[in-house]
Amino acid sequence: MESELDFHTAKVLLEWQIDLGATEAIGETPVNRYEIPTAAPKVVKKPDEPAPTKVEAVDPVAIARRMAADADSLDALKAGLQGFDHCEIKKGARNLVFADGNPEARVMVIGEAPGRDEDQQGKPFVGRAGQLLDAMFDAIDHGRSHAQNPIYITNILPWRPPQNRDPKPDEVDMLLPFVEKHVSLVNPDILVLMGNISCSALLGERGITKLRGHWRDVLGRPALPMFHPAYLLRTPEAKRDAWHDLLMLQAKLREL
Ligand code: URA
Repeated sequence: MESELDFHTAKVLLEWQIDLGATEAIGETPVNRYEIPTAAPKVVKKPDEPAPTKVEAVDPVAIARRMAADADSLDALKAGLQGFDHCEIKKGARNLVFADGNPEARVMVIGEAPGRDEDQQGKPFVGRAGQLLDAMFDAIDHGRSHAQNPIYITNILPWRPPQNRDPKPDEVDMLLPFVEKHVSLVNPDILVLMGNISCSALLGERGITKLRGHWRDVLGRPALPMFHPAYLLRTPEAKRDAWHDLLMLQAKLREL
């Protein structure tokens, strides 16, 4: 029977029941649990019915590779991610956080994963860490909407992990084909790998304190590991190293 109560009346009645000590939601008619069969019902196969086929195991990494390979533009890659349903964190996220900035940029920044603000706005690096990232690039006369020296920004994971936890290895594995294709479509001169998650996904190494400030080769182009701006917010004394790395980046851009 459909309830005729409006939402607010139903809520008040429910709260009243909780005040009276109700702790369980039960039905209006009693259920005789002795009558409920404990075994699953037997499936009787009709004589002309074909035998059920074995359920194929899904390989999300193979699916991701295929979808990424098929994407021949950034819009197609974004649509591919929107249709990729094999990553658990997508279910709890409000928005896909694909990228921001100018895809013509010479510098592509790769962060870790969206946080709360990014999840709400559907754009990477818009919270406090993002404001610091903008200030860092502004200091070398670059920015996401800079007319002459734009940058392009994305993350390893395009959805916010619950409680901002670290991405799990299987999540990184299934999203990496999309990141790699993203890099090849943007085709920047230089990659900046922000923090440990980005380094472990693209270099297979962690230990940002050692990695930062040293050029590496990633997907056929120079890549500079740097401290993540969220780390710099917690550790202001490391900003000196970040400044050093930004100057290295500026020098490399002039040299290339
Ligand atoms: N941290 C990241 O690594 N990426 C974002 O988009 C925001 C915070």
